[in-house]
Amino acid sequence: MTPRKIIIDTDPGQDDAVAILLALASPAEINVLGITCVAGNVPLELTARNARIICELAGHSELRVFAGCDRPLGRDLVTAEYVHGKTGLDGPDLPEPQMPLQDQHAVEFIIETLRNEPKGSVSLCPVGPLTNVATAFNKAPDIVEKVQEIILMGGAYFQVGNVTPTAEFNIYVDPHAADIVFRSGAPITVMPLDVTHKALVTQARNAAFRALGTPVGIATAQMTEFFERYDREKYGSPGAPLHDPCVIAYLIRPELFTGRYVNVRIETQSELTMGMTVADWWGVTDLAPNAYFVGDIDADGFFELLTERLGRL
Ligand code: BDR
Ligand code: CA
Repeated sequence: MTPRKIIIDTDPGQDDAVAILLALASPAEINVLGITCVAGNVPLELTARNARIICELAGHSELRVFAGCDRPLGRDLVTAEYVHGKTGLDGPDLPEPQMPLQDQHAVEFIIETLRNEPKGSVSLCPVGPLTNVATAFNKAPDIVEKVQEIILMGGAYFQVGNVTPTAEFNIYVDPHAADIVFRSGAPITVMPLDVTHKALVTQARNAAFRALGTPVGIATAQMTEFFERYDREKYGSPGAPLHDPCVIAYLIRPELFTGRYVNVRIETQSELTMGMTVADWWGVTDLAPNAYFVGDIDADGFFELLTERLGRL
C-alpha cells in the first residue's frame, strides 16, 4: 500500500515524542511530510527544540521541523510542566539538536503543502492544541477539502477532563481553535482520554521498551518513567498513558480501535466548562455526526505494535 502522507502537529511532550518515533519507524504505512510545532505542554521554543531532538534520536535529521503559533487564538497560554517537566522532555539525557528549524512558519507550511497536493490526499495529525491547524483553516479555507482526515488527540466524554474537571488539556488550551476545527467539515477522528487512559505503560511494557537495548528503546523507557509519576499520583494508574501515539497507531492498525460517529461541539463560552468536548455519544440530539469518536483500544495489541516498531529504529 502507498504510505499515507501526514503532517504531525505537536507540542512535545514525552508522549508526543513516542508518537513521532512510532511514525518514523513505520515508513511502509506513513510518510511524514513535516513536523509542525505549537505551544502547549511547554512554550513553543521548547516544543520546536524537543521535536528536533526526537527526529535526531530516530536517525531522521533530514525531516523538516517548523515552529508555529506561540499562543492560543483567544486566551493566555497554559502549559503543563507539572506533567512533562521543565523542558517538556524530562527523563532521558538527550543532546541538543543540531538539525535546523525551518524558516517557514508552520501555518504557511501546512497551507502550502495542502495546496500543492491533490484533494483528500494529506492527513493532519494534531497531538497538541489545535492553534496551528485552526489558523491555517482561517487563513486558507480552500485547504480544508485537501485534507484526507484529521486524526487528533484531544477531548474526553466518559473521562470528562484532566486539566479541569470538564476539559482535556489540548482542547482546553485553545478551545477556540478546536471549535474551528470541529466545525470545519473535514473528516475527523478523535482519540479522547476515554481511549488514551487505557493505553497505560505498565512495568512490564516499560521493561519491554528498555529491553530493546537501543537508544530509542532506552529513551522511551526513561521518558515514560518520568511522566508516569503524575498519573500514578493523580489516578492511581499503573503507569503513564501514551495519549499521542494512539493517533499514529490508528493509522497503522485501525482495527485496534473502536468508536462511534457522533456530533462533537466545543465549549467556548462558559469559564466553568471551557474546552469541554460535548460529544453526543448517546445520540440524544439530531445534530449530524462530525467526528469518529474513539472509545476503546486493544491495549496489548497497541503495545505489541509500538514495541516492535520502536525496535526498528
Ligand atoms: C494531551 O496533553 C498533553 O499533555 C499530552 O501530550 C497529550 O497530547 C493529553 O491530555
Ligand atoms: Ca501532546
